[in-house]
Order: sequence, then structure tokens, then C-alpha cells
Amino acid sequence: MSNLFSLDGRCIIVTGGYGQIGRVVTLALIDAGANVAVIEPRPDDAVTRAKFGDAASKIAVVQADVTQRASLEAARAEIEKLFGAPHGLINNAALDSPPDSSAAETGPFEDYPESSWDKVMDVNAKGVFQCCQVFGKPMADAGRGSIVNVASIYGSVSPDQGLYQYRRDRGEVFFKPVAYSASKSALYNLTRYIAAYWGPKGVRANSVTFAGVFNNQDPLFLQNYQKKIPLRRAGKDALHGMAEASDYAGPMVFLMSDASSYMTGADLRVDGGFLAL
Ligand SMILES: NC(=O)c1ccc[n+]([C@@H]2O[C@H](COP(=O)([O-])OP(=O)(O)OC[C@H]3O[C@@H](n4cnc5c(N)ncnc54)[C@H](O)[C@@H]3O)[C@@H](O)[C@H]2O)c1
Repeated sequence: MSNLFSLDGRCIIVTGGYGQIGRVVTLALIDAGANVAVIEPRPDDAVTRAKFGDAASKIAVVQADVTQRASLEAARAEIEKLFGAPHGLINNAALDSPPDSSAAETGPFEDYPESSWDKVMDVNAKGVFQCCQVFGKPMADAGRGSIVNVASIYGSVSPDQGLYQYRRDRGEVFFKPVAYSASKSALYNLTRYIAAYWGPKGVRANSVTFAGVFNNQDPLFLQNYQKKIPLRRAGKDALHGMAEASDYAGPMVFLMSDASSYMTGADLRVDGGFLAL
């Protein structure tokens, strides 16, 4: 790795670092030399070892819930004691409705529960806002920093409900719900706001727009999804076109590093071409 991408000695916070993408991103940041603090609501030593293997001893997993400001303040104090003021923040934690969600979650839009809307917006929008406040301030005070907010293709365009037609064809009532999309689109302007607000203090803020990650989805879903992805990579994902979590590691290292030092208020789209169609 050239010096341009080095994260040597930088303290980088990853929310939701136990997750599918967060885990792989955390390992890539460690490889690039960063001191990584993972924020999770329920840290567990055995889980940390299982997730990160040999790298586990280098990672600080700190308890906090992104919806609870006091827990974030406590996490900030703990992280600063270990690694000093943060250089980077990756707002990765989020809630989505998994394919096996309750019927109320994935029913018609007209019946989408208010409580689900609140829960998703709380973590995905308010949680990001609060992490920016709590971890961004010490970056601004130090006169440098990089914030990345993880958005989604479904925050740029509506979910294509046709992708899920196969479920309705077999008698289920299934619609990809609304709150996730609304919460992710909120991040684009939150990102621009922060880029403008903290630009004079040397803090950069960018979003990333990611497409779906392969996770043994239903073969009929994969068949439909593949038609939405122009990119084919021989021997890798030729059968479905979905991303692997590792596809998102390089962009995160880039955005945390000096290689992206003139980039702020931007969105980095990493989607196999989904939004090009
Ligand atoms: N997986 C995909 O296909 C995909 C596609 C596009 C964008 N994304 C985005 O990428 C990011 C990571 O997705 P993923 O699939 O790896 O998610 P995941 O569900 O595997 O992991 C999410 C993590 O966030 C943590 N978390 C949840 N609520 C929290 C809270 N209140 N406070 C702190 N941590 C909390 C969870 O414990 C978990 O470790 C998300 O922002 C997601 O929206 C994912």
C-alpha cells in the first residue's frame, strides 16, 4: 500500500462494525494501519474474536447505541483515552427490513407501521446525525477529519418492487418497505451540510452509495437483480452481479486517507452500475 493510502496511527470509528460490511471494512482499516474503534450496542468478547480473528486484539469494541446520545458521549471518552481524538468516522450502522420481516413490515405502503418508520429513522438518520455531532466535534477541534455516511442505491432511487414480484407470484404480500429508502436519502444532504459547515475546520464529509451484497438470497431474487447490474466479473459474481462486502473496503480506506484529501460533500457510488441504467 502506498503512503497515500496509509492510515498509520489514525483513530477511526466504525459504527456497526460487527455487521456484514462493517466487519470487512474494519479489517481493511486495520491493514492500512488505523487504530479502529467499533461501536456496537452489545459488544461481546467471543463475538469479537469470531468476527475479527487474529486482528481482534487490535480492535477496540466499545458499547454504544447510536440512538442514545449519552452512550455515544461515554464511548467518545473511552475511545479518546485509548487512541486520542478521532481522525475518522464511518457511519455504517443501520437497520433494514430483512427478507423474513414480519408481515406488517413488508405489507402494502398504506399499512406500513408508524412504529417501524420511527425505529428505522431513529437508527439510520438520527443515529448518523448524533454520531456526527459527538465524534465530529473533536475532529473539528483538532482541525482535521473525515466522515463517511453509508447510503444505499435505495436512497437514490426507489426500490424496484418488480425485483420482489416472484414473492407476490407465490402468494405472499411483499413490498420492500419505505423507511429504509427515506432514511438513506436523508444522508445525502446531511453529508453536504456537514461538508459545508466543517469544511473551514478541515473536516471532510462524504457519502458512499452501496448496492446489495450477496447473502445467499433467493435464486429468483438473484435472477431479477442480475438484470439491474451491468457489471460482470468473471469467476466472481457472474451468476448474480451482487457485491461482496470486500468490494466496499477499498473505497472506505480511500475516503479515510489522504488520497481523497480534496474530496468533500461528494457521494462515491459503488454499485456495479445499478444506477447507470
Ligand atoms: N448489505 C447490503 O446489501 C447493503 C446495501 C447497501 C447499503 N448497505 C448499508 O451498509 C451498511 C452496513 O450494512 P450491513 O448489511 O453490513 O448491515 P448489518 O445488518 O450486517 O450490520 C449492521 C450493524 O449495525 C449494528 N447496529 C444496529 N443498530 C445499531 C445501533 N442502534 N447502534 C449501534 N449499532 C447498531 C448492528 O449490531 C450490526 O452489527 C448499512 O448502512 C446499510 O444500510 C448495505
